[in-house]
Amino acid sequence: MAILSCSANGKNHSFKPGELWPDNNGVHINAHGGGILFEKGKYYWFGEHKTEGEKGNVANVGVHCYSSKDLYNWKDEGIALSVAPEGSGSDIERGCILERPKVIYNEKTKKYVMYFHLEPKGAGYTGALSGIAVSDKVCGPYQYLKAVRPNAGYWAVNYPDELKEKSSKAEGLRFPGDRLPEHPDSMNIVKRDFGKGQMARDMNLFVDEDGTAYHIYSSEENSTLHIAQLTDDYLNYTGKYARFFIGRFMEAPALFKKDGKYYLMMSGCTGWAPNAARSAVADSIFGKWKELGNPCVGEDADLTFHSQSTYILPVQGHPGKFIYLGDRWTPENAIDGRYIWLPVEFEGNRFVIRWKEEWRLE
Ligand code: GAL
Repeated sequence: MAILSCSANGKNHSFKPGELWPDNNGVHINAHGGGILFEKGKYYWFGEHKTEGEKGNVANVGVHCYSSKDLYNWKDEGIALSVAPEGSGSDIERGCILERPKVIYNEKTKKYVMYFHLEPKGAGYTGALSGIAVSDKVCGPYQYLKAVRPNAGYWAVNYPDELKEKSSKAEGLRFPGDRLPEHPDSMNIVKRDFGKGQMARDMNLFVDEDGTAYHIYSSEENSTLHIAQLTDDYLNYTGKYARFFIGRFMEAPALFKKDGKYYLMMSGCTGWAPNAARSAVADSIFGKWKELGNPCVGEDADLTFHSQSTYILPVQGHPGKFIYLGDRWTPENAIDGRYIWLPVEFEGNRFVIRWKEEWRLE
């Protein structure tokens, strides 16, 4: 991993977006498309472990975990969820696509629950499954439980009644890339997937103040975002879900809450290439969501500073302070992907993100 060992000259004292970020061993942090869990005074960063020379998304190792007390210095805690050996036939066999892992803690069961976007090996992005794994310890090892299409047999709470009756025009069709021949409602993709469950690709998790957890994911051939409630143990879907931003092709969703309002940051749908981010606000998680436009301002704002959102982190002990976590993907050598962490500022009814070469929490 020569190219990714950084000069380990002591501690990190600031965020330097886009630079190599050495862990405690002087190795560039390997946790892409990640998210963070705070627990007993420590942050835990989970993300996709990429391998050198790998072209993009193939999972050869699994989900990597790091821990930190100050957010600048990260200790390598090893692989939290390992892919299964090649030839094992497991859903998470080496060579699958395992993206955007997130972990939440369940107070009732005392278990750590991991969700990720899973595409079983050899089928491209047609699976659109949610993988679920669980552990008694924060850094794992996580035990893989299952991969599902969410909410089979349930209509979204805001699905129009007339569409429930109409046949689907999406039956048997495979959409190339991110373009649909027609608006998702006129294709009636939800109806096509009603029996087997809705597609779930780019994703995040959010635990509300009352302990209710939600899975937020790009669905309906990436055209529409779904927000789905999880059961009390966080291991299943309750069947309650809603659709938002219909036909807007939102990816990379990151949800956070401030002063009773829910905010979302998302990207457009251009694969590894960056695009202009979007943002939205709502008084309730199930809507109504109002789009607020691109939260990034300044030079390269239209490319999200060459990054794509993966998480918005509430800083512990600093109410109202949040950090934007983005990935600067390098699909030609995925392990070299960089992290763009920037402060989230609030202006009027919206949030904004500005570029900084180097910055500190205070
Ligand atoms: C991006 C997505 C990534 C990955 C990539 C593959 O749009 O956000 O998680 O799936 O496409 O091309």
